[in-house]
Amino acid sequence: MNIIICRDYSEISDQAAQKVITLLKSNPYAKLGLATGSSPIGLYERLVKAYRLKEISFKDVMTFNLDEYVGIPRSHSQSYYSFMNEHLFKHIDIQLANIHIPDNDIERIDEIAKEYNRLLKKNPLDLQVLGIGSNGHIGFNEPGTPLGNETFVVTLDERTRKDNSRFFGSLDDVPKYAITMGIKNIMRAKELLLIASGIEKAEAVHQMIYGDVTSQLPASILQLHPNCTIILDEPAASKLKEK
Ligand code: F6R
Repeated sequence: MNIIICRDYSEISDQAAQKVITLLKSNPYAKLGLATGSSPIGLYERLVKAYRLKEISFKDVMTFNLDEYVGIPRSHSQSYYSFMNEHLFKHIDIQLANIHIPDNDIERIDEIAKEYNRLLKKNPLDLQVLGIGSNGHIGFNEPGTPLGNETFVVTLDERTRKDNSRFFGSLDDVPKYAITMGIKNIMRAKELLLIASGIEKAEAVHQMIYGDVTSQLPASILQLHPNCTIILDEPAASKLKEK
């Protein structure tokens, strides 16, 4: 693991953006795995800026999001479909057909998971962007999820629902289910880039880097990836000295 410790969130976002920009300059046809949540917002702001400055184009880029809530419509302001539009897609020249976010139609959800999995197998990812949950999840692979899973429907951990209630009116409004890439899909990406900021991530970050590789802390699997960069701010890195 290549670990980079930054002063603050702004520097994390600069570093993460530099990686993605370098990739897109060398490979305009890159296949990017994307994350939602608060961690990559600064990264997306910088990618939009680089696009506006004509440093990069997304014309031939394909994107694949990690996950989506099940139980709210795509039109909901907190769906990951809306999030990606708001923070990235509506600002850039990506082709609609090249954007992939798991659909969340509950009637067809098992079929959707299979289709998404087939799509991921056909399109090996050049780079997957990740955040980490305070419980150590990546994507929505919650503690206890088998590390061999491919795209599946998950019951969200209560801790995840509480953490994410900040985006919804109340805990009751947070969906109970989601569809997510499995660990196996994530580990197939050629390169992984995980962003974590804030003291509430410090324990999970410590376990991810120094703990045993275990399904109890899904992010610990990243220790086994040959090309994984972890970008942290000082609060998120604060427990690393304790080995
Ligand atoms: C989001 C995702 C999640 C988040 C994680 C951290 O697509 O897959 O694993 O990355 O929950 O969320 P934030 O960044 O909001 O702290």
